[in-house]
Amino acid sequence: MTTSILSDLKIRFSKAIAAAFGEEYANHDPAVAPSKDAKFGDYQCNAALGLTKKLKQKPQDVAAQIIANVQVDDMFEAPTIAGAGFINLKLKLSYLEAQLAKMQKSDRLAIAKVDKPDRVIVDFSSPNIAKEMHVGHLRSTIIGDSIARILEFQGHEVLRLNHVGDWGTQFGMLISYLREVYPDALTKADAIAIGDLVELYRAAKKRFDEDEAFKETSRNAVVELQAGGTEAKLAWQLLCEQSRREFQKIYDALNIQLEERGESFYNQFLSDVVTDLRETGLLQENQGALCVFLEGFTNKDGQPLPLIVQKSDGGYNYATTDLAALRYRIREDKATRIIYVTDIGQSGHFAQVFQVAKRANWIPETVQTTHVPFGLVMGDDGKKFKTRSGDTIALKSLLEEAITRARADIETRNPEASEEFKQDVAEAVGLGAVKYADLSQNRTSNYIFSFDKMLALQGNTAPYMLYAYVRVQGIGRKGEIDFASLNVDAVKLTQDPEIVLAKHLLQFAEAIDAVAEELFPNRLCQYLFELSQKFNQFFEQCPVLQAEESERISRLSLCDITAKTLKLGLNLLGIRVLERM
Ligand code: ARG
Repeated sequence: MTTSILSDLKIRFSKAIAAAFGEEYANHDPAVAPSKDAKFGDYQCNAALGLTKKLKQKPQDVAAQIIANVQVDDMFEAPTIAGAGFINLKLKLSYLEAQLAKMQKSDRLAIAKVDKPDRVIVDFSSPNIAKEMHVGHLRSTIIGDSIARILEFQGHEVLRLNHVGDWGTQFGMLISYLREVYPDALTKADAIAIGDLVELYRAAKKRFDEDEAFKETSRNAVVELQAGGTEAKLAWQLLCEQSRREFQKIYDALNIQLEERGESFYNQFLSDVVTDLRETGLLQENQGALCVFLEGFTNKDGQPLPLIVQKSDGGYNYATTDLAALRYRIREDKATRIIYVTDIGQSGHFAQVFQVAKRANWIPETVQTTHVPFGLVMGDDGKKFKTRSGDTIALKSLLEEAITRARADIETRNPEASEEFKQDVAEAVGLGAVKYADLSQNRTSNYIFSFDKMLALQGNTAPYMLYAYVRVQGIGRKGEIDFASLNVDAVKLTQDPEIVLAKHLLQFAEAIDAVAEELFPNRLCQYLFELSQKFNQFFEQCPVLQAEESERISRLSLCDITAKTLKLGLNLLGIRVLERM
């Protein structure tokens, strides 16, 4: 098993720099990167220029000393120096061939697991009870799942948490309304259908806004719920159960694993948050509320903004819950990396929560907290994604439409196929297209939701990628090839398109590392897209089944490894491949 070439090289050049110039340079950035242009080889080490000042030597001389101390001849041709001390490295063909053989024999494509696994929490999806799960939650679900998959693949221990909004004053309103319209539902433990929860929410909200007496009843119901009143609790559970079932349908359709640990879980710790903040001296009273004044966040008069942790009526809020959750995740879950996937609108919230937790000394040096923000989903018209009636689009119908459209396509391409086959293909393509369209965008920008674009057979889309995979399977079927029994040690690369493809295949580990570090899944999509393109170029220029025996084995191996890489790569995006389409 190997790590990525890039991470390997970074270590080797760091060591070489220390060996050449002394241990005090051990932490100097080795500045190793893949070459942008093939004429400079495959990788570069650009550290020399940055060292010239300190060493008072010419960059070319610095580079020569680095080269004298680096050991890379197992992987690379002799390093060369260009320009101002840039070290260029070209992969050896024999190394490429040996790596390909290792990849083909391994079900993880010879990619090693990390030495020191992190204990990671990915907080994602996290819809709100009795409200519609909207496209923002869909983005969080898709992006969060992919991040979790990639970290799991690397060998990290990942806890996937669904921080559902299952607590708060809105439950007083909902419980009171339930009591009015479905009094029966509250006394019986077996949940009767309470119809469309979203409708219920709307009706309750309307009543709440219009009727003072109802407002009062609602407030009392919250108090009752918080005090653990049996009836109120039953009503709350009923609402949660009903919502949970709706959410689960989406998770099942998308094949998402998640552990529910909603806001209510942290109830019991909310008062500790306040106590702790008081003890650390951060807590202040402001107009009856308890808060922490933030550094670097000011109102329009330049005054520091407060983060309220307990309202003047004694109630807690979203931020208090996140503070309690963060503390719990570090102390009890022992997480070393905590990742929150939400829309960009919550960036301020997380920056504030992280700041307060840091100042309260809840986050040790060894723990990393990261907000992973994403942009809005827009309609074709460039406006926020809505249905014609102006409502946010229900996710279920959205996913169904993707499947229906994919189904219509297969219906025209392959009308003779069996019902079962058509439905299977339609689901894989439709759902894969929705996921891929989301993941292939730089997540921080808004993205335009377009069925036509995401289902297109050309371009950076799921169908394009799925076709590349199917094409290889087709070659295998046509040539009656048993890929598992190919003599992969016989791989010999001679033609340019073969070498270009092989080099790209070897960079898979780098793409995975990059996503694990920076948490941008579009980096993996881009990698897979380029892989499909390079494979297609290879396939156009190098005959496979018709080639001479020795070339045939090499080329079949390249086909097989490409397919395996596509399959694993798409799997890390939460997308399943098809053997035929
Ligand atoms: N329920 C929230 C929402 O719908 C998202 C929760 C994200 N996670 C968190 N720990 N705050 O916007």
